[in-house]
Amino acid sequence: MPALDAFAIQALEKLAKNQRIRTLWPLESAGGAWVKDAHGARYLSFASNDYLGLSQHPMVVGAAKAALGHSAGAGASRLAGGNHPLYSVLESQLAQWKQTEAARVFGSGYLANLGVISALMGAGDVIFADKLSHACMLDGAKLSGATLHRFLHNDMASLKAQLEAHRTQGKHALIMTEAIFSMDGDAAPLTEIATLAEAYDAWLLVDVAHALTALPTLPKDRTIMVGTLSKSLGAYGGFVVGSQTVIDYLSSSARSLLFSTALPPAVLAAASAALGVWMVDAAPAKKAMQHAQNFAAAFDLPAPDAAIVPLVIGEENTALQAMEMLKAQGFYVPAIRPPTVPVGTSRLRFSLSALHEDADVERLIQAVKELFA
Ligand SMILES: Cc1ncc(COP(=O)(O)O)c(C=O)c1O
Repeated sequence: MPALDAFAIQALEKLAKNQRIRTLWPLESAGGAWVKDAHGARYLSFASNDYLGLSQHPMVVGAAKAALGHSAGAGASRLAGGNHPLYSVLESQLAQWKQTEAARVFGSGYLANLGVISALMGAGDVIFADKLSHACMLDGAKLSGATLHRFLHNDMASLKAQLEAHRTQGKHALIMTEAIFSMDGDAAPLTEIATLAEAYDAWLLVDVAHALTALPTLPKDRTIMVGTLSKSLGAYGGFVVGSQTVIDYLSSSARSLLFSTALPPAVLAAASAALGVWMVDAAPAKKAMQHAQNFAAAFDLPAPDAAIVPLVIGEENTALQAMEMLKAQGFYVPAIRPPTVPVGTSRLRFSLSALHEDADVERLIQAVKELFA
């Protein structure tokens, strides 16, 4: 067996050969619409999923500061250390927001998917996942031991064919999709998926991490929703919502909840305050959506379903070059490459936020037009 360093060198060489090396961009400061790099250069950022700008909202920051006065960290898991009262407040809000009986908060959206999927499914079960489902949903499926089948993105004929071929091979079946796809910004046909779930006796897991607008009504007796507090709520953490009985079961069996430390109180307070703002103020979501619509329209792209607009470029290096050229103009738009997206579909992913001004989006449109002129 090679020494650890020798192993890592070899593995890095392989990653480099496949252009899969990732590096962290050193920043001096971040937060809001602007980031400053380690050399002091400022960039208008279109990389953040803080679509509503809630991470910057005075009530959200204020709530976090107030809770920080008591303690920086939680110290133990929720089950071992006791349940902080802010959890109860936040979970009631989440259940009310998503109109379900109950909610459970996890350490992150990633941990929520991992824990929920592996608690619901097991060996002898079958999972049907959209091809573009987020990595944490696929990792949850792997961890569960169920057999995973992937259907073509948003293609109901493909899902039906997969169900027809494989549903009877599993005791339980679960169809998984994102409500809004993180790298494409398009919506899943949830009503049609729910009809197929009903027809083939499958449960439905919908990840609502990037959804800004209301979803269609889905059958409560077979649907579970997973989401994150880390994107449009501007805080950190993840959640699952569903019936009280299902949440009770997950609370005793989702290992990423049982065996992971509770969130710091300041994070819970921030998420709770952010949700309070979102539930009474529709303006930030409208503004982010309007920016996305204006941006998409400028490039004759279909009207977006969320505040995410991708410009698919193709080759990884070309996407990286485009990112650098925009950086030279003062805009930070991340190049998204495999394995995050399929090979040959590397892209610039524009994430629009209520923190952007109309003039910011106009300037961005001009810069991107010049880039592709
Ligand atoms: C669809 C989807 N689900 C889950 C996650 C993970 O959420 P978190 O960042 O809170 O771990 C992400 C974030 O990348 C996501 O895009």
